[in-house]
Amino acid sequence: MLRTHTNGELRIEHAGTEVTLCGWVQRSRDKGGMIWVDLRDRYGVTQLMLEEGKSSAEALALARGLGREFVVEAKGVVVERLSKNDKMPTGDIEIKVKELRVLNPAKLPPFLIEDETDGGDDIRMKYRYLDLRRNPIRESLQLRHHVGREVRNYLDKQDFIEVETPVLIKSTPEGARDFVVPSRMNPGEFYALPQSPQTFKQLLMVSGFDRYYQIVKCFRDEDLRADRQPEFTQIDCEMSFVEQEDILNMFEGLIRHLFQNVKGLDIGQVPRMTYADAMKYYGSDKPDIRFDMKFVELKGEGVDLTSGKDFQVFDAANTVVGICVKGAAEYTRKQIDELTDFVRRPQIGAKGLIYARVQADGVVKSSVDKFYSEADLATWAAAFNAEPGDLILVLSGDGDKVRKQLNELRLDMGTRMGLRDPNNYTVHWVVDFPLLEYGEEEDRWFAMHHPFTSPKPEDIPLMLAGEFGKVRANAYDLVVNGVEVGGGSIRIFQKDLQSKMFEVLGFTPEEAQAQFGFLLDAFEYGAPPHGGLAFGFDRLCSLFGGTDSIRDYIAFPKNNAGRDVMIDSPSPLAQAQLDELKIKTTV
Ligand code: AMO
Repeated sequence: MLRTHTNGELRIEHAGTEVTLCGWVQRSRDKGGMIWVDLRDRYGVTQLMLEEGKSSAEALALARGLGREFVVEAKGVVVERLSKNDKMPTGDIEIKVKELRVLNPAKLPPFLIEDETDGGDDIRMKYRYLDLRRNPIRESLQLRHHVGREVRNYLDKQDFIEVETPVLIKSTPEGARDFVVPSRMNPGEFYALPQSPQTFKQLLMVSGFDRYYQIVKCFRDEDLRADRQPEFTQIDCEMSFVEQEDILNMFEGLIRHLFQNVKGLDIGQVPRMTYADAMKYYGSDKPDIRFDMKFVELKGEGVDLTSGKDFQVFDAANTVVGICVKGAAEYTRKQIDELTDFVRRPQIGAKGLIYARVQADGVVKSSVDKFYSEADLATWAAAFNAEPGDLILVLSGDGDKVRKQLNELRLDMGTRMGLRDPNNYTVHWVVDFPLLEYGEEEDRWFAMHHPFTSPKPEDIPLMLAGEFGKVRANAYDLVVNGVEVGGGSIRIFQKDLQSKMFEVLGFTPEEAQAQFGFLLDAFEYGAPPHGGLAFGFDRLCSLFGGTDSIRDYIAFPKNNAGRDVMIDSPSPLAQAQLDELKIKTTV
């Protein structure tokens, strides 16, 4: 080894020890007769000290020539510092350098390699290997390592075994586009990269591996967001001879173990919410329940506090629904206009926003005073349990569509009111998802989770009767702080039901056989009842780290355009390579 210790290791009890340290120059200070150098590695920073008359002339000359990020080796003695730095774990000591060696000089880095850097996103991604030297990013990857180790610890104790599945496969429908890979040996044919190992883990159940897991790369060609990458990692799990309850218990155990061992938090029992309630009260299948602000309907099923007052907008809507924001009555006209602009953005698509303030004297003032009397507005306030000082915000429109719009407003208000503290965790299951959802544009039914998800046995007659919209699935998602961190289902394990599902999704029997014949065949050779789920590993890590973006938890992520700007990928192929693959491009 070139070093005797790391830069995070030495303490006052090492005083007098001869050591050799290696690392990168964080910074150096030349005060004439004395030179100090901060030497950094993965473990920390240690101060080197060189002194005119005491260090060799050669070492002094080298030290004067050191620049940021030079890689050096220093030999010397550990001494107690005169002015200690209690912010550094090694702050009681420094190294009185006898010999210094530059192992490799460095060009001036294009941005500051400090906790707070001056480098923008693009430059940091281009030089990601330098960005990775910064403490916050290194700590994120260490956190990821810690989470992965705890996942393996827990699953290993529960008798799960890790099995690798192939990466060059045939399309698995998980709702996104596939990335594809041309096959040279089979011209004109393509592999797909797995959106998940879904069918393989089910086949492993047929093979009898009754508890499988894999920390595995998945690939999805979809629009990117802070919590989405084109290649991401799942903690993918499957179990045999189980019912939904067993899966929820097993993985509630995993999530509890992770919170306990990574964050030191006891999350207790994980509550459950039905999909129907999640949509009714929060307008989202992954509600952020760190704060209340539940939806209240002024007009909807079995309630109507708005009709018959000549307010056309509400009269024309089948749903009038709102939230009550505690203590926000002092919102100014300008702030309310901002909220109105927010809900009108094309991505949200509401037409307008109605508000009502409960004044200190209890009187409710609203933007629709013209249509609703004080007494009418008092009934609204009562429905919301609103108190003096509260602000009621109301949208109107069509069922779940308006609820989804109100969800965006609710989340925005939660942020504005400081109710979404990343270090305050709420964990819950959403259960009883619909099996199928109707795609208006495509005019057909889609699997809400994926085509292998089982309907609730009691809802199978509805499926057979063609009442597809009413069939509930044995499917569940785990939601942490409004982020879907995991999802899964009990699977179909009989050929007939699976074939029926493909039929509902618009496959002809021939198409189903061509695409999924391997699975349908396997179901005829003794398939056990089975089910499972997958967690988004990157998302879990970013939640534990208290941030929204998963990129910091991935060593070499892609940017929002799906590019790796460091290696400049994707990139064109040489003509010879295209010819070999028998591929013609049209761009
Ligand atoms: P699902 O599609 O819900 O289920 O994916 C499981 C979890 O993976 C995470 N995730 C992502 N994370 C980062 N970037 C992405 N692009 C991305 N897409 C998904 C989410 C999600 O909850 N085969 C099923 C699981 C099963 O049924 O067992 C599946 O893949 O956190």
